[in-house]
Amino acid sequence: AAIEKGGFDHFMLKEIFEQPQTIFDCMRGRLNAVNGTITMAGIQQYAEQIINANRIIIIACGTSWHAGLVAEYIFEELCRINVEVEYASEFRYRNPIINKGDVILAVSQSGETADTLVAIEKAKEKGAIILGVVNVVGSSIARISHGGAYTHAGPEIGVASTKAFTAQLVVLTMIALKIAYIKGSIDENRYKKLLLELDAIPEKVAWILNHHEQIKTIAQKYKDARDFLYLGRGYNFPVALEGALKLKEISYIHAEGYPAAEMKHGPIALVDEQLPVVFIASRDAFHEKIISNMQEIKARKGKVIGIITEGDETSKALCDDFISIPEADEIVAPMLAVVPLQLLSYYIGVAKDCNVDQPRNLAKSVTVE
Ligand code: G6P
Repeated sequence: AAIEKGGFDHFMLKEIFEQPQTIFDCMRGRLNAVNGTITMAGIQQYAEQIINANRIIIIACGTSWHAGLVAEYIFEELCRINVEVEYASEFRYRNPIINKGDVILAVSQSGETADTLVAIEKAKEKGAIILGVVNVVGSSIARISHGGAYTHAGPEIGVASTKAFTAQLVVLTMIALKIAYIKGSIDENRYKKLLLELDAIPEKVAWILNHHEQIKTIAQKYKDARDFLYLGRGYNFPVALEGALKLKEISYIHAEGYPAAEMKHGPIALVDEQLPVVFIASRDAFHEKIISNMQEIKARKGKVIGIITEGDETSKALCDDFISIPEADEIVAPMLAVVPLQLLSYYIGVAKDCNVDQPRNLAKSVTVE
């Protein structure tokens, strides 16, 4: 088992550290930033249907659902197509309205999640086009889909998804870019810039991983907290959800992810000097807004842990602790911002002696409902 873990203490840590490679693998042969091309055969053949779709419905569970939520923001922005993101379990039981010409994107690491599988079977019967974004080659969801793209992250053993999530983000972003390009809804310069941004992600993830000791120190400091709040806006709102989910899964600490501006409608009541609040606050169009949310937490004596862009002194000044990530376009920032959150959960889990690779009550793939 020690050999399988490649010298790491746990599969989860190994898989977190594999991300520069898995992200690279996921783009290999598909993205050519120099020529400005994206090649995805299983998507391109449905390009016309996607462009003309009334809406794209993204169906997923768990961490894959969070990747879908990031994709909603990206698709709407770049492709100007209406997107809904659905929990598979809710979608399948509510007699959903599906019209011919609706496109379903099923996102699943295992390709075997029962709720997701049944949901897409139903939609297929009603005439929807099903595209899978799946990690496990030849899995049930991959087989039932009309087309799609594999995430190529390799086998994920740790129950809590890490490298599969970043690969999902990369694939979904490449799909959005490809469609936007064909549709003409993206400006040529922005398109080229985003290809270069994607190309630079593996290296930037490696940079974050090199700073893991700092994250370990922060984990030690906050490991005894009873609750955590994770806040983000825009593209980073789903990252807040994912950060909170990861912490719950791995360390059994209660955590909630919330849109930063929505906290004033409830979660802010929880804030006191005991509560760590993790802000996913990389520099983007909403930056000023999230800074004022940080100030609101500080004013109530909450502990602010910021995931911030390197060199962002304004945010740094508001943080009790911070973790820097390299500068990146807001569209790709979630691929970076989630990495310190994975490590934070991991180190807290280990510090609390939890079984991080196989948390209690959780299964890698939920094949029953
Ligand atoms: C389980 C796993 C999660 C995963 C979810 C969806 O709950 O523990 O890590 O995100 O299922 O799985 P899928 O294979 O469909 O992505």
